[in-house]
Amino acid sequence: MNPKTAESVDSAVLEPPREKVGVAALVRLLGAHRGALAWSSVLTITASLLRLAVPLLAMRAVENQDGRVAAIVALAALFALQAGASSVGAYLLQRTSESVVLRLRRALVPRLLSARVRLHDEHRVGDLLSRATTDVGAIREVVMRGLVDLLTGTVTIIGAMALMIWLDWRLFLLTVLPVTIGVALVFTVLAGIRAAALRAQASLGAFAADMERALSAIRTVKANNAEPREAKRIGGHADDSYTAGVRVAKLESLVTPAMELAANGSMLVVVLVGGMRVADGSTSLGQLVAFLMALMYTVMPLAGIFGIASMVQKGLASLGRIQEVVSAPAESGRTAPAAVPEPAATAPALEFRNVSFSYGRGLALSGASFQVEAGTFTALVGLSGAGKSTVFSLAERFYEPQDGEILINGVPVDRFPSPQAVRSRTALVEQSCPVLHGTLRENLVYGRPDATDEEIADVVHRVRLDGLIAKLPRGLDTLVGDHGSALSGGERQRVAIARAVLRRPGLLLLDEPTSALDPVNEAALSAVIKEVSTSCATLVIAHRISTIRQAEKIIVLDAGKVVGVGSHDDLVRDNTFYQALALSR
Ligand SMILES: Nc1ncnc2c1ncn2[C@@H]1O[C@H](COP(=O)(O)OP(=O)(O)OP(=O)(O)O)[C@@H](O)[C@H]1O
Ligand SMILES: [Mg+2]
Repeated sequence: MNPKTAESVDSAVLEPPREKVGVAALVRLLGAHRGALAWSSVLTITASLLRLAVPLLAMRAVENQDGRVAAIVALAALFALQAGASSVGAYLLQRTSESVVLRLRRALVPRLLSARVRLHDEHRVGDLLSRATTDVGAIREVVMRGLVDLLTGTVTIIGAMALMIWLDWRLFLLTVLPVTIGVALVFTVLAGIRAAALRAQASLGAFAADMERALSAIRTVKANNAEPREAKRIGGHADDSYTAGVRVAKLESLVTPAMELAANGSMLVVVLVGGMRVADGSTSLGQLVAFLMALMYTVMPLAGIFGIASMVQKGLASLGRIQEVVSAPAESGRTAPAAVPEPAATAPALEFRNVSFSYGRGLALSGASFQVEAGTFTALVGLSGAGKSTVFSLAERFYEPQDGEILINGVPVDRFPSPQAVRSRTALVEQSCPVLHGTLRENLVYGRPDATDEEIADVVHRVRLDGLIAKLPRGLDTLVGDHGSALSGGERQRVAIARAVLRRPGLLLLDEPTSALDPVNEAALSAVIKEVSTSCATLVIAHRISTIRQAEKIIVLDAGKVVGVGSHDDLVRDNTFYQALALSR
């Protein structure tokens, strides 16, 4: 694998969020759930406080002969209360974290679907998917485990420290040193843990994206005998994730001994000094027992709190990745403030006026002007890369032109209330003729879910799919496979054309719709397209001269410029570029 390629691929996945997301963003995210969070906090804190009463009762049980039974009964009651409060609190918190996940996913899905096509040009599918799954999961962790540990830990530590000071402040001062040493040790490894955890997370994103790349093109992978290379490439990301994960484990394995050092060191000091103080009568045995318990309550949650710090870091990185999608600009509605003029039936179905457009490097279209009259069959021809498919993308408002104007029925597309309003007047068959997983019927009615059986049967007959459907045991209810893999290339094209025709659009855009068809079906379908074009304007990108000749008007595109418009005969006579193009067909 070329390391340079790997790097450029990774940079797309590992791309840092454009805005740095801080704890404030997390707080805002959780703000909507403050009711449930407040309740679970109250319960969790109550449970922590109840736990703190245990050393006090234990002290009484040890010291007070008469009250021992009462103290033990109270202890049992306390344990029950504490268990109840902490389990209800934990349940509430878990439910809240599920709600946070739901809310994020619900926000992500429509945003992903309604984001501009540019966002999809810029990001890999696997990477976008991992934002809705892995990254949302990281935030769930923060809410579910992070918050509860943070709350109980902080309350317990503060409370236990206060208790120790109250019980014996001199003894407390003696414990400060070993605990400080332990904490300092943990702090030194914490930064390393954070970096390694982020790396593990990023490798996982790259793993998902490359997995998607290979699985979605599995036939290409196999045909090129690339399975071992793909396995190595994807496995490489798994290796990276493993290495980073092991580093996290190594560093985290230092946390426990450091905390144990703190715990045992301070315990030794307390036992030693406290024992002497009990012996000389300056403190009681019960007090010493309570002090030791409080000490344990201080030291134990410390490790957890350090874990949360790195978890929150991971959660923030994920929140940044999610917010990048959520805040990505959606497709814009109307850009011109004026009221929408009524579409005129006499106006051209589609008109480009001096349109220039660039994908970012060089002009894909430069100053293109042409008209497609209503009720006509127009062909768009040109060499590969001339900008033909780009014309369709602009007519569908997948992109906005940098210059010029595009009009549908005489109305500029940016005066329509939304891109969807433009698309409801047009039907597009893309060059790749995508067929979605599902049944044939679902694919046919995808653009018009309310189509009747008669309409479907009519369209199926017109695009010559009836032979295929008659052969299938389940007919229209046959599954077509992922990306229509159970259909032939020509069948996929006919399904895509049928889907477009069924929408009864005002403008039909067909991008090489018959390139995969045999001459018999091609001729038949060209006749259908010609017939359809009498009721709706049809613009066809075509390479076959037989299709092109049928067009009333031909638009010739070369390197983004319109270099000729006219009928086949006119162009053959006057246009040298078209002559060369037509001769080569
Ligand atoms: N999404 C994109 N991002 C960047 N550049 C693009 C994108 N789509 C197309 N291009 C570039 O824009 C130019 C015009 O592409 P377009 O797809 O319109 O060509 P075409 O005329 O349809 O070619 P073909 O006959 O091969 O389908 C090409 O140079 C292409 O590389
Ligand atoms: Mg094309």
